[in-house]
Amino acid sequence: MKVILLFLAGALIGALVAFSAANTFGQRHAWPRGVMAVMQHHAAALRDARKQERCDAAATAPHWRILAAVGGDIEPAYASTGSVEPDFRRQAQAFSAATAQFAAEPPRDCAALDQALPKLKEQCDNCHRDYR
Ligand code: HEC
Repeated sequence: MKVILLFLAGALIGALVAFSAANTFGQRHAWPRGVMAVMQHHAAALRDARKQERCDAAATAPHWRILAAVGGDIEPAYASTGSVEPDFRRQAQAFSAATAQFAAEPPRDCAALDQALPKLKEQCDNCHRDYR
């Protein structure tokens, strides 16, 4: 009986520790995951705009601006969960630079958007290939 009680107490403590560790882990990664979720949303919005042929600068500029702004958070967000490699920093900066360029001069029509979207995807894919 005593052994069973001890075992149950051990299991309960183990579960509590695991739960609190998982919680801490989740909170620590909330910022980087949030950054990615916001970028995902605006990248999808740009693709939707293309599909619906709403390609003028007025329709897409807000998304480019947010991508550029949030891109500046990639490095600090990941740095908050641990150290980031110099190459990661370089990729994050390349992302910010590319999106800042599109925010400053948004594609004006669907042909231009067709050039820009693969470049955006390339930026996401490059970093994900190495770090995701
Ligand atoms: C400089 C690096 C970098 C760039 C650029 C980048 N990502 Fe990520 N992304 C990551 C890393 C690292 C992960 C995996 C770790 C994580 O989930 O936090 C990730 C994970 C994700 C996830 C999954 C998040 C989750 O909740 O699991 C999504 C969605 C995502 N990225 C979307 C994008 C999109 C869309 C772009 C381009 C517009 C992009 N990312 C550009 C580094 C990057």
